[in-house]
Amino acid sequence: MTADITQYLSEQKDLVDTALEAFIPESDLPGSRIYEAVRYSLFAGGKRIRPILTLTVSDMLIGDRATAMAAGCAVECIHTYSLIHDDLPCMDNDDFRRGKPSSHKYFDEATAVLAGDALQAMAFGLAVKHIKPADTARRILAEIASAAGPEGMVGGQMLDLAYEGSSCSLDELHSLHAMKTGALINASVRIGTFTGTCTNEEREALTEFGRTLGLLFQVVDDILDETGDFQKLGKTAGKDSAAQKSTFPKLMGLQKAEEYRDSLHKKAVQCLALFEKRSIILNGLCDFIYSRDH
Ligand code: IPE
Ligand code: IPE
Ligand code: MG
Ligand code: MG
Ligand code: MG
Repeated sequence: MTADITQYLSEQKDLVDTALEAFIPESDLPGSRIYEAVRYSLFAGGKRIRPILTLTVSDMLIGDRATAMAAGCAVECIHTYSLIHDDLPCMDNDDFRRGKPSSHKYFDEATAVLAGDALQAMAFGLAVKHIKPADTARRILAEIASAAGPEGMVGGQMLDLAYEGSSCSLDELHSLHAMKTGALINASVRIGTFTGTCTNEEREALTEFGRTLGLLFQVVDDILDETGDFQKLGKTAGKDSAAQKSTFPKLMGLQKAEEYRDSLHKKAVQCLALFEKRSIILNGLCDFIYSRDH
């Protein structure tokens, strides 16, 4: 990864944080504990990869940055809600997230459930309010709803639990990963195509890129669960094998999973070939996701 991409990621992350701060400020309304819980997880130090993907694709296609930012922040709210619920005792039972106690550990289970619920509603609320024109808002909202719901993240989480403690086929694992993580990553990329201007061929290439990148993202996450450490990950390592999760290292062995990760990275880069130099930053993001250690 080049120094430029590290700097780009850090600058964009700051811009996303500033936008989220404006969209979801502190509140002293009755029930403000829910705002506190929402903001506790939202500002715990996530990488902001999803909104940064939306912004980068949108910039590449000369899209409107304010629209891309609102759409990307909506996806980040959905993502954060998914993490809060993913950590609950009834799901992965993880005590740490983003280097801090998980929401249900810092607050309590009921508050964590409600914080996730609130973030989901807030995601759609901010998208409706800030994405213009109405037709773009409609397309983006439909994309987010489909990626977050039973055909996407939530459906994938259901499969993740169903395959816990039992074995599944590689095809089934592909579907699980494409849904639980791939769908929101792919949506983050595709949303950038709706805020900018592109040909059908370019949108198809970016959709294939988003699909591949989403799968790559979760394969890397599975590998890091085996090889990473708490200090860098900000979450407990080794949880997948302890919980008998179906993951790529479990089904293929670590070495084959790493080879598969390498081939997905290669394929993702190929998907961007038609953009030539225009996709230089997107290529950098793809390399970051491939070689990340957190
Ligand atoms: C972690 O996502 C959960 C998965 C979908 C694999 P990230 O690695 O993007 O987590 P944050 O947002 O940076 O904390
Ligand atoms: C989470 O997958 C995917 C979500 C939809 C939240 P994991 O359960 O592997 O994510 P981590 O490892 O806890 O971040
Ligand atoms: Mg999980
Ligand atoms: Mg988990
Ligand atoms: Mg994981």
